[in-house]
Amino acid sequence: MKKTFLSAALILAALHPLKADEGMWLPALISERIGDMQAKGLRLSAEDIYSVNQASLKDAVVLFGSGCTGELISGEGLLLTNHHCGYSYIQKHSSVEHDYLKDGFWAMNRSQELPNPGLTVRFLERMEDVTDAVLKGYKAKMTEEQRLALVKKNADKLKEQATKEGNGLKASVEALYYGNQYFLFVFREYRDIRLVGAPPSSIGKFGGETDNWMWPRHTGDFSIFRIYAGEDNLPADYSASNVPYQPKKSLKISRAGVKEGDFTFVYGCPGSTQEYVHSELVKYIQDVSDPEKIALRTTRLGLMKKYMDQSQAVRIQYSSKFASVANAWKKWQGEEKGLRKNRIVPVKQAYEERFADWAQGTRYEGLTERLAQLYAARNPLYRAYEYYNETVRSVEKLQMASGRRVDPKDYYQPIDEEIFVAMVSAFDKALEDSYKPEEFIRQRERFGSIGEWKDAIFADEELAKELAVSLDKFYNQNLAPQVRELGQAINLCYRDYMQGQMEFEPGKSFYPDANLTLRVAYGKVAGYRPTDAIWYTPVSTLRGIIEKDNPEIFDYNIPQALRDIYARGGYEEQPVCFLATNHTTGGNSGSPVLNAEGNLIGINFDRVWEGTMSDLIYDPEICRNVSLDVRYILFIIKEIGHADYLLNEMEFVD
Ligand code: ARG
Ligand code: GLU
Repeated sequence: MKKTFLSAALILAALHPLKADEGMWLPALISERIGDMQAKGLRLSAEDIYSVNQASLKDAVVLFGSGCTGELISGEGLLLTNHHCGYSYIQKHSSVEHDYLKDGFWAMNRSQELPNPGLTVRFLERMEDVTDAVLKGYKAKMTEEQRLALVKKNADKLKEQATKEGNGLKASVEALYYGNQYFLFVFREYRDIRLVGAPPSSIGKFGGETDNWMWPRHTGDFSIFRIYAGEDNLPADYSASNVPYQPKKSLKISRAGVKEGDFTFVYGCPGSTQEYVHSELVKYIQDVSDPEKIALRTTRLGLMKKYMDQSQAVRIQYSSKFASVANAWKKWQGEEKGLRKNRIVPVKQAYEERFADWAQGTRYEGLTERLAQLYAARNPLYRAYEYYNETVRSVEKLQMASGRRVDPKDYYQPIDEEIFVAMVSAFDKALEDSYKPEEFIRQRERFGSIGEWKDAIFADEELAKELAVSLDKFYNQNLAPQVRELGQAINLCYRDYMQGQMEFEPGKSFYPDANLTLRVAYGKVAGYRPTDAIWYTPVSTLRGIIEKDNPEIFDYNIPQALRDIYARGGYEEQPVCFLATNHTTGGNSGSPVLNAEGNLIGINFDRVWEGTMSDLIYDPEICRNVSLDVRYILFIIKEIGHADYLLNEMEFVD
């Protein structure tokens, strides 16, 4: 059965070139897409992109930290990623005296590069289909629980074998297509990663939350690190005697530039998509989850901002937290709008009706109805769980009380007290008492007002602990298992639904949903129409930065040095960012954007907000990824960082 699934999927993918640029493809199977890629302009072979026999592009791409992508740009371990991916590390090295977030940081020689304990990067050594080995011993009458246990046992064995050598090898086994297929991924993980350079936030985060997820965009969203290794080029703990890592492959940099229509591809680690889900889930996201979470975060962000605007010290403390809360908050707004505007729920419902008609008399009969029923059961529970996460769990005092680490350096109690009042009230109001532990209700009744309750919580460690622990227990031990059980039942349906959809639409190419494994997306440089009567062209320039520049507005206040350079003249057309149709998602941040020859032309850092629904449905008309032009990176390194010596390490092609 697995075999049939696999070969059917591959044959279909090979026979039917995709109409649009949708898809995130597995590098090891890229030969299935290479024809289409070449037809669209690529001048590389499948082996150039992924090979286990020779150095290939995959050897220049890493999973950076726990959720970004980075790429090697020199033979001496120099690594490029986004500013927002390096942000928390830049922040950790910052203080009011040395504010690298504000002023930028440039190591002027190797001894000035800053170590980052805990930061790792992972190179993919190889990936392979292990479906048969993972399902060895599977019997049709097994429950999903038993199947999962079997999968885990078999996968653990495979991982153990794959990492025997040690030397930083790590392995994971990932389910694709809801467990219709399994892949083993073997990585080598390096753990001495040093900060080399970062522009000031007024460049690296130019536009801030105002421009985030938007076009026209002018964010210089990059930072530079260096991977260090032991004398043997293998992973090693930090040591002053470590040496720069010599990669099997590093990217050549193209300064030829981009124009509308150019072929591009993105190589990176997209985190999570749900392209094949039922309309009931889309409806829940659009009508319940997104709007409620947006409202809660609007409140939380308002409270943080109030204090951040009053004090530079608090701004440093909360900048990273603020950015991460604001990021999803804004994405959800674009997603909700996109789902509504493009009528995705009715589109999916119509599809499900056609599917259900076709499925009559097959083993797929009744699947869509069953999914609808399961969502009806799951959604209220899931909503409560999301509420708990977004409200009481966002209070740092309660996090500390239940044993999670909160860095005291980045903690400012007045903000947290206000968040407690707002979030605990919201939680209490939104959910019935049956979704609250007894201890919560007892404390609520004991204090006359939320203000008194707050004072008591912040004065009495024991009380805080009782509240936090009771909430965690209630949600993790009571609710989470119920949600998980329904989730498993849903997953089981999707395993069949996935196969059903492939049989139902034999003319369509299917790719597995993103799961932070390495993927290739390809498309072309392209503008788009965000709304009636507006056409966005795909390239932004330094001129646009100067147009936005305003010392009164925090997000648009550029460094004086940049104003001076511009005033000298000749830089009006300096390219900054560009748009393309590559299908990307969170985790693709920092991914190399490559041209037809496989040379670096930019780094991915965002999508346009009208198209963020692409995590659920990709629309070639409006889904665009946003990349930073590599020529702007070079310009900033030289003109603002005065770190020209770094350019000597890089290899340029035009
Ligand atoms: N939207 C981009 C991403 O999802 C950039 C996020 C960081 N920037 C920010 N302004 N919060 O990661
Ligand atoms: N900025 C995102 C990231 O951190 C990429 C944007 C997206 O979601 O596509 O990966």
